[in-house]
Amino acid sequence: MNILIIGGGGREHTIAWKLAQSPNCGKLFVAPGNAGTHEIATNLALGVTDFEGIKQAVLDNSVGMVIVGPEDPLVNGIHDFFLADAQLQGITVVGPQQAAATLEGSKEFAKEFMKAHNIPTAQYDSFTAETVEAGCRFLETMKSPYVLKADGLAAGKGVLIIEDLAEAQDELRQMLVGKKFGAASQKVVIEEFLDGIELSCFVLTDGKNYLTLPMAKDYKRIGEGDTGLNTGGMGAISPVPFASAEFIKKIEDRVIKPTMDGFQKSNLPFQGFVFIGLIKVGDDPFVIEYNVRMGDPETEVVFPRIQNDWVELFQAVGTQTLDQHQLQIDPRTATTIMAVSGGYPEAYEKGKTITGIESAEDSVVFHAGTQMESGVVKTSGGRVLAVTSFGADHKEALSKSYETLEKIDFDGMYYRKDLGFDL
Ligand code: AMP
Ligand code: GLY
Repeated sequence: MNILIIGGGGREHTIAWKLAQSPNCGKLFVAPGNAGTHEIATNLALGVTDFEGIKQAVLDNSVGMVIVGPEDPLVNGIHDFFLADAQLQGITVVGPQQAAATLEGSKEFAKEFMKAHNIPTAQYDSFTAETVEAGCRFLETMKSPYVLKADGLAAGKGVLIIEDLAEAQDELRQMLVGKKFGAASQKVVIEEFLDGIELSCFVLTDGKNYLTLPMAKDYKRIGEGDTGLNTGGMGAISPVPFASAEFIKKIEDRVIKPTMDGFQKSNLPFQGFVFIGLIKVGDDPFVIEYNVRMGDPETEVVFPRIQNDWVELFQAVGTQTLDQHQLQIDPRTATTIMAVSGGYPEAYEKGKTITGIESAEDSVVFHAGTQMESGVVKTSGGRVLAVTSFGADHKEALSKSYETLEKIDFDGMYYRKDLGFDL
């Protein structure tokens, strides 16, 4: 079976790395891919929302399965595009249809879904430019800090957490009336602040059955001690030490099962990965958000721990036979550390030569923002490499990743040295 992966980050390199290990994997393509996927697959120079280009590549290369990495093509309806096309109908697409992808594309839609299906989440209300003054009064009824969320996709920047009431009211006006996040903030969800520790839960579903993947925790802030600006993710750990079997059972009963039932009842066709962003408040799980894809860098620790044949698992998603599979999970801890470009998540330079990747011994180096230029690996993005290692616990795994990172270099390279500090 020839397979195409859509995307070009660390998540897609990791998925490609797993698929390439399967005897059932035919030719493997990644669009657009990076210097890491270039080593193990054929990169195709296509944009992730260039559906016509993707169609042509699928037909030209007899691709039988498409794995969609990022949210953009899903929210834009890539799965529906395949279903509506006579030549593409029979091809397995891993990733939900547009109606279900709206769970990530609209925060209000996700909150309504949770309310309708009794899934624990923060209290909320949503507002538009017409109701901005009601929104300001609503804020007066809430306790500080105030959580304001742009309804639409805002590249991870659309959530503001503000201590001061007047400042929160001012931000609400800027979002709704001042169009701070453009179309993404035409609506704003205001919600109760939840105080706890976050974790990421992943579920693979075929639309009928599902498998719960190992839990993971990612580190979003650029600075040590979880300070500074939000990033796409600076590192991750799996399993999560504070997610006991008892707590995972609560997640299963209160969140995952009602979510899966909710897909049926609300008629949301979902074949793919559900990423449930959770927060542990006391001993109870609450949902912060849904994403309709795997997390990045969580994939770089979750996938290496799953020993199954991933071509078989993805085929089972297509044939709705996931109930015939059980996950085989490596009990060891996996950690990944992201090496990023100097300046990220603000302005940074690209095109820096990366050295030392081949000297990694006890780690796997997944590429994110890298590009092959005349046989040389160069930086091409903010998050550049994810260095994954295994250990008996997160400390042992992290020390291997740090050791590997000491051998890798590019101009301006930065990584956090405190992952796991809160565990
Ligand atoms: P989101 O884009 O919804 O994942 O929000 C981004 C980040 O904001 C989350 O990862 C949390 O750290 C934080 N956050 C979002 N909603 C809440 C909430 N209700 N209470 C506390 N923190 C929140
Ligand atoms: N690591 C968080 C995300 O993928 O959105």
